Amino acid sequence: MTLFPGVALITGAASGIGRATAVSFSREGCIKVAICDRDVSGLEETVRLMKRELGVEVEVVSVDMLVESQVEEMVAKVVARWGRIDYAVNAAGIIGNNARSTSTTPAQFDLINNINYRGCWLSSRAELAQMITQEPLGSHDGRPGVRGSVVNIASQLGVVGRPDAPAYCASKAAVIGMTKCDAIDYSKDRIRVNCVCPGVIATPMTEGDAEFRKALEPAIDIAPMRRMGTAQEVADACLFLCSSKASFVQGHALVVDGGYVIN
Ligand SMILES: NC(=O)c1ccc[n+]([C@@H]2O[C@H](COP(=O)([O-])OP(=O)(O)OC[C@H]3O[C@@H](n4cnc5c(N)ncnc54)[C@H](O)[C@@H]3O)[C@@H](O)[C@H]2O)c1
Repeated sequence: MTLFPGVALITGAASGIGRATAVSFSREGCIKVAICDRDVSGLEETVRLMKRELGVEVEVVSVDMLVESQVEEMVAKVVARWGRIDYAVNAAGIIGNNARSTSTTPAQFDLINNINYRGCWLSSRAELAQMITQEPLGSHDGRPGVRGSVVNIASQLGVVGRPDAPAYCASKAAVIGMTKCDAIDYSKDRIRVNCVCPGVIATPMTEGDAEFRKALEPAIDIAPMRRMGTAQEVADACLFLCSSKASFVQGHALVVDGGYVIN
């Protein structure tokens, strides 16, 4: 028996954490998975990886989180196919501009916040609007079911600061604040809303540029575990929070960071 009998939707699924989450859902027996991103060729590779599991059906959605109408259409497309959304993981995001405030332009600030914060708000808002209309789904062991579970991807940098990252850190702190408020507002609708705060994770975001990867070394050393995390380790936290094993976890910001924020 799977922990995931419902429908999953993952944004940012063309790469890194979003892709690992989509593949994990299919591996853990979720057979209705929508993968959403603006990078269509990346989504094709995610489909290829997911199709290693027998019987999984994949809905591929090309979407830009900057465009409200596209985000609304994303949810509508998934609901038109499967009638509901039970697990939503909002992982689409971009890296910061690596500059302090006086060296950051309003355009840079807007782009980072419009994708990482506003885009996450748009997608979670559209998912919540669908979830409140649907009947609760039973749990794996007879606990009261929920109408849905939303997991937003924030960051350890939404919890603590670091040099040269005011726009990025603020965009992720905003995701944590939004998650807590949505958790309060939608508890009465039997919807759970949580977020995951990854530490330094080996994905194209951190490893795409050799110079940037090298500059990350001090940040990796801050965490007591002194290594990068994997996308799989973050995906595992997302699946836990989506599952009925997390039935009493609400409004939580789960750091998956090798201990970075302890100190
Ligand atoms: N990698 C890390 O160390 C780390 C740490 C903390 C938080 N995060 C967060 O985790 C999430 C996933 O990051 P990742 O490391 O997997 O990065 P990634 O670059 O591998 O994947 C990000 C995905 O988001 C998509 N995306 C970006 N802007 C988009 C838009 N406007 N519309 C649609 N899709 C868009 C990209 O196409 C890409 O597929 C991000 O929100 C990121 O901020 C990452």
